[in-house]
Amino acid sequence: MIKTRMKDHNCGELNLNNIDEYVTLSGWVATIRDLGGILFIELRDRSGFFQLVANPQINPDVHKIFEKIKSEYVITVKGKVTKRPEETYNEKYPTGQVEMYPESVEILSEAKTLPFVLDDENVSEDVRLKYRYLDIRRDAMKSKLILRHNIVQAVRNYLNGLDFLEVETPILIKTTPEGARDYLVPSRVQEGKFYALPQSPQIFKQLLMVGGLERYYQIAKCFRDEDLRADRQPEFTQIDMEMSFVEQQDVIKVVEGLLVDAFKAAGVEIKPPFIQMPWQEAMDRYGSDKPDTRFGLELFDIGDIILQSNFEIVKNTLLNGGIVRGIRIPGGAKFSRKDIDDITKLAVSFGAKALANIIYNEDGTAKSPVLKFVTDEQAKQIQERAQAEAGDIIFFVADKPKLVYDIMGRLRLHFGKSLNLIDENKHNLLWVVDFPMFEWSDEEGRYMAMHHPFTSPCIEDLDKLNSGDLGNVKSIAYDIVYNGTELGGGSVRIHSSEVQKAIFKALGLTEEEAKEKFGFMVNALQYGTPPHAGLAIGLDRLVALLARTDSIRDVIAFPKNSGAKDLMSDAPGEASLQQLRELHLKSTVTKK
Ligand code: AMO
Ligand code: AMP
Repeated sequence: MIKTRMKDHNCGELNLNNIDEYVTLSGWVATIRDLGGILFIELRDRSGFFQLVANPQINPDVHKIFEKIKSEYVITVKGKVTKRPEETYNEKYPTGQVEMYPESVEILSEAKTLPFVLDDENVSEDVRLKYRYLDIRRDAMKSKLILRHNIVQAVRNYLNGLDFLEVETPILIKTTPEGARDYLVPSRVQEGKFYALPQSPQIFKQLLMVGGLERYYQIAKCFRDEDLRADRQPEFTQIDMEMSFVEQQDVIKVVEGLLVDAFKAAGVEIKPPFIQMPWQEAMDRYGSDKPDTRFGLELFDIGDIILQSNFEIVKNTLLNGGIVRGIRIPGGAKFSRKDIDDITKLAVSFGAKALANIIYNEDGTAKSPVLKFVTDEQAKQIQERAQAEAGDIIFFVADKPKLVYDIMGRLRLHFGKSLNLIDENKHNLLWVVDFPMFEWSDEEGRYMAMHHPFTSPCIEDLDKLNSGDLGNVKSIAYDIVYNGTELGGGSVRIHSSEVQKAIFKALGLTEEEAKEKFGFMVNALQYGTPPHAGLAIGLDRLVALLARTDSIRDVIAFPKNSGAKDLMSDAPGEASLQQLRELHLKSTVTKK
């Protein structure tokens, strides 16, 4: 540690080995207690707690000052480390066997009464966010920021060891291709023009490859103006990397090694190689491209059986490009009418028009309104396909593929949680590979890039690209998934300007639009581009999962709330008319 006049030891690091050492400690008064005239202070610094004692008989001058001290005052003390009487050992703290009767104490700073009790579990998150600087004094917060630091250091060490160069890329840029909404910054100097904040360093890291750096990484701030959730912040951090002269499997190997070290920093051992599951298989088995494989309840397909049946309503859905997927809940025959209604309502809230069920009674009979549409033989086939036994229930939904996967994937997660099937001690990592290149957007009425438009299509699918069969073009993209969360994603990039142009065209960008938006990128690809590939891991998500918290806000020092507001500084704030004028902006919002 850095020894200074105010502090030459850390509170939390003193123990019986330090007995009789003369030390100077500084920190915050966590608690102060008066036990029969003797005052006890629990002194807190980043490292932990240390007990100070003032006794009018032993150190009366210090006792006088202690009498004036309140919670959260900042003080500095000098004195000898002494052994506590054994009957007063406190097993809760590593320093619980030692204490100090300070010879001197100085109040460095007084403190008002805190707006909340630091360790009170019932304080709302809004209050904690408003006084984040106080919240950070809590062990729970501090330890998460320390974990974050340790993970970042492990990642840096690992990548430095593999010849990666850390390079910063600009924050005021043109636009990024990630597909979320940009944050815009008006330019004062260039009237009517705007910078965008990077949604990721994607374009720049590719240009660094064109520039010949070969291996790049950055702990990169990214900005996306999207709807926020527990695992999404408007500004967040990526472990961003890019490599030249590599293929998909090379990137996967490097990232697996990186994750081993990052997890180790959190005390978790993981063992690559991780399973590589094609996207289609993930969707079919789990209804999700980020499957939680810590539990079973895999989906099944009964489309072929229904097509042979008289179940007209579902048959029509199938004949019109729809699919049907089911899920079996072992022991679910005992669900009450109300349970089934609630599950159906949940499916409807996920977008289902209907949720069919078949109950397999303990006596071997089956009960369902849909059985009237199928023959006994077909009913038997369905039961076999579902691997359903007496006592089980199955549910199924037919609709457009995307909707069916989404509904069934979410239902599966619901059952996994509500039936306590998830083993929280598991660390399941897997790769999802072979993503489709494009995804149809009903909203936009066109195909969109599933990853981003610089992702390389599979070479075998170039013909489909040219013939317009976009729904069947696969890409060389891969996601790393941890316990049902997408930790990171990446791809092999396009390194030919011709293919890049074809992708822009497929995405409905005219040549002018493509040139206007990404012209410099297409240009760069014409000057000798190495084959390259990369990936970015969401650092906040990684740390949150390893800290076992549901919200990435808990692992960010100063996060925004779900309304993208910083409750502490009250950002975003208003701009003055003068500022707006300078930026050539007019506000259409009238001040209240
Ligand atoms: P992608 O958009 O998949 O890829 O982002 C990579 C990872 O970043 C994390 N992430 C977020 N974390 C918190 N809040 C958000 N709003 C947020 N959005 C994304 C996720 C995600 O897996 N340029 C590509 C990477 C590449 O191709 O190399 C990219 O940004 O954990
Ligand atoms: P009925 O309304 O009695 O004619 O039966 C129709 C049955 O088909 C009900 O059990 C519905 O739950 C089921 N059903 C209708 N549409 C779908 C669908 N899209 N997916 C799954 N089941 C459906």
